[in-house]
Amino acid sequence: MKLSAVILAAGQGTRMKSSLPKVLHLLLGKPMAWYVLEAARQVVQSTPLMVIGHGADQVRQVLGDQAEYVLQEQQLGTGHAVRQAESKLLGKCDMVLVAYADMPLLSEETLGCLVEQAQSHMGPVSMLTVTSNETRGFGRILRGPDGKLSGIVEEAQSTAEQLNIHELNPGVYCFRATWLWEALKRIQLSPKGEYYLTDLVGMAVEEGHEVQTLSVDDPDEVIGINTRVHLAQAESLLRQRINRQWMLAGVTMIDPANTYIEPGVTVGQDTTLWPGTYLHGNTQIGDGCVIGPNTIIRDTQVGDGCTLLASVVEGAFIEDHVDMGPYCHLRKGAHLCKGVHMGNFGEVKNSTLGPGAKMGHFSYLGDTTVGADANIGAGTITCNYDGSHKYPTEIGEGAFIGSDTMLVAPVKVGAGAKTGAGAVVTKDVPPYTLAVGVPARVIRKLKK
Ligand code: UD1
Ligand code: CA
Repeated sequence: MKLSAVILAAGQGTRMKSSLPKVLHLLLGKPMAWYVLEAARQVVQSTPLMVIGHGADQVRQVLGDQAEYVLQEQQLGTGHAVRQAESKLLGKCDMVLVAYADMPLLSEETLGCLVEQAQSHMGPVSMLTVTSNETRGFGRILRGPDGKLSGIVEEAQSTAEQLNIHELNPGVYCFRATWLWEALKRIQLSPKGEYYLTDLVGMAVEEGHEVQTLSVDDPDEVIGINTRVHLAQAESLLRQRINRQWMLAGVTMIDPANTYIEPGVTVGQDTTLWPGTYLHGNTQIGDGCVIGPNTIIRDTQVGDGCTLLASVVEGAFIEDHVDMGPYCHLRKGAHLCKGVHMGNFGEVKNSTLGPGAKMGHFSYLGDTTVGADANIGAGTITCNYDGSHKYPTEIGEGAFIGSDTMLVAPVKVGAGAKTGAGAVVTKDVPPYTLAVGVPARVIRKLKK
């Protein structure tokens, strides 16, 4: 049984009051549409087809190969939107799962159950329903005296009595493909001048088919986003879902409501996250770490047993037992080896600090390699940029860089060498020597 997914995303989303297409608004760092595309892809095991219209070029550009695309030039309704998929899917699948791009909380599990139900019945239509007091403008589910579904009526066309129905249509369906393509052509224009996908339900019933429904347990799953208020609500729910999953996996959160973890991030067992921790992008945190409070980590790998306090870390690689902060900034290409200690107000960019190296206070290292157990004194700065080019600095194993040393790159300080306080190092310092002054010169040899 071959399955395809069609995700509707051509609508304008006027109520977002935005120049950005609605489905590209971010939730936990990912475009809104990412969520349903991801869930659908897992269920159908192929790339979903997205129907786009408003902001089509931008949507295509941002979502890239997460979806395949078909253009609905004029938005003539949900039925018309699904019809656009026929040219791409005709003869290529037996069943079609349909959902909206603005329903990011819809879970893979729920979609999977719907598909299973559809596959185990002969009827041409299966759909989700939800029972909720918050009717949110959803279509009402009509049932006959036998309790069987008889049709869907849009809120705008509902009678006073129908408005009291609390079983609602979230807009998620699974169709038998052959029946779908044929039936879509028979939908009549609605009083609003649209082709309603919901009409297919009534049509199937008239033809004598039983339409299967699957009730969603958690009404939050089918929250559709129309305004930025909904966006914030959905983000908070998604965050709760993700945080709960990590807590159940052994992560301690002091205040889950103030802990922000994007999808795709991983956190190891017995790690504690203090409030104000933000884990973005492609980030992995090891076991037994203490992160935060107030720490932002993006696209970074952190080993086991690390402590990161009130720091900002981007594109870095941190090995086990590193102790950092408060107020450190690691930028792209920072690599802190095992047991590195970095104290307050340190910035490291495109540099490696060898095992056990220490950088206690107020320093900048750029394009630098620091050997094992070297000590970077307070206020040390690598002058790595002359206004047009960047140059490397090398600091050998066990070197001792005196407070307020300026290392004017390109320059090397040998293993076991020392610089005096305030030295401006413009020439290489040989291993096991002491260099002092401005510009620094070697004044003494040191014992190994
Ligand atoms: C639709 C359902 C309604 C259901 C509700 C749930 C119909 C006729 N009604 O109503 O029963 O309760 O969803 O949210 O289907 N879209 C297109 N092209 C179009 C029109 C819409 O791609 O021409 C997309 C929109 O971008 C959106 C989705 O389809 O993602 C739903 O469209 P919307 O206009 O919000 O449908 P509703 O009127 O809310
Ligand atoms: Ca809607």
